[in-house]
Amino acid sequence: MSQLSLQEIIDIVEKLKKHFRSSLENLDDVDHAKALESETLSKKGSIASLNRQLGSLDQELRQSAGAVINQARAELSADYEKALSKLLVQARIKELESEKLDLSETVFDSSFRSGRTHLITRTRQELEDIFIGMGFTVEEGPEVETDWYNFEALNIPPYHPARAGQDSFYLKHGQPESMLLRTHTSPVQIRVMTSQQPPIYAVMPGRVYRRDTADARHTPAFHQIEGLVVDKGITFANLAGTIETFTKAIFGPNIVSRLRPGFFPFTEPSAEFEVTCAICEGAGCRTCSGTGWIELGGCGMIDPNVFGAVGLDPEVWNGFAFGFGIDRLAQMRYAISDMRVLLDNDVRFLRQF
Ligand code: PHE
Repeated sequence: MSQLSLQEIIDIVEKLKKHFRSSLENLDDVDHAKALESETLSKKGSIASLNRQLGSLDQELRQSAGAVINQARAELSADYEKALSKLLVQARIKELESEKLDLSETVFDSSFRSGRTHLITRTRQELEDIFIGMGFTVEEGPEVETDWYNFEALNIPPYHPARAGQDSFYLKHGQPESMLLRTHTSPVQIRVMTSQQPPIYAVMPGRVYRRDTADARHTPAFHQIEGLVVDKGITFANLAGTIETFTKAIFGPNIVSRLRPGFFPFTEPSAEFEVTCAICEGAGCRTCSGTGWIELGGCGMIDPNVFGAVGLDPEVWNGFAFGFGIDRLAQMRYAISDMRVLLDNDVRFLRQF
């Protein structure tokens, strides 16, 4: 390179400064600013390369030129820092703008209605809450069951009428009549007892299926909630007390429960439990056929054969079980004359609850 005079170097530096400043002024983005910085001020930038050219100058000239260049570098660095921080602030503002959430409240429009949970779902949740409050856990089982869980382990022998084809929906799967849609929630008792060690205090809600023709009091798919207690020294009085406590919790103080002798293969002794008819509060009406009582479900002390099926020693453990229809309970509680409306999903019905 030919020798440069100090003035020429000053001119170059001035041009460079001017170019840098005007570019900086026109930038609107952090990345471009960084690129400009590296182009000019980095080790590979134009100022550094100008500095390298000083090597061929006389010492005196080199010192003065070096001072000019260093001065320029310091000025431009300061300009760059200032511009960069301005751009960073702008970028942050832009980012915040784009992330802004509109939290203003929707003005109420009378044509707008919010959805709600179905009456059956709500009743099920209320029941779960009541039993959780009494110290029970909530368990679930599959709706498709094997014969063993739905019948065999529950001490329901092959000739029992509950197995007859007219009651169960069997599946075309495996051996004939080996798989079915569960006809009650009692198979979940078996699943809980084979997977957990006692003491067990559990309720098991869910959908069940029976080959019933739909009418005012039946639908082929409905809901039950099962209760299961397995512990030591459990008595029939504990069962009656549990049913009474839950009855009061769900229906209020005017409704009581009573047990009548009954029969279920998986409990011994067994009982059917009834509650005061909520519609007439016991006075007698059409719904309760004038008796003042409505049958809600079945219950009893767990049969030793059931403990045998799940491998628990009936000499050590005992307990009780109960089961009742959630739909039937909701029907009673809200005086719904026809169960089929629970499946219609007519919003004029659903909105009332
Ligand atoms: N599973 C029985 C039914 O569906 C009800 C029941 C459950 C009875 C538990 C006794 C004990 O009718």
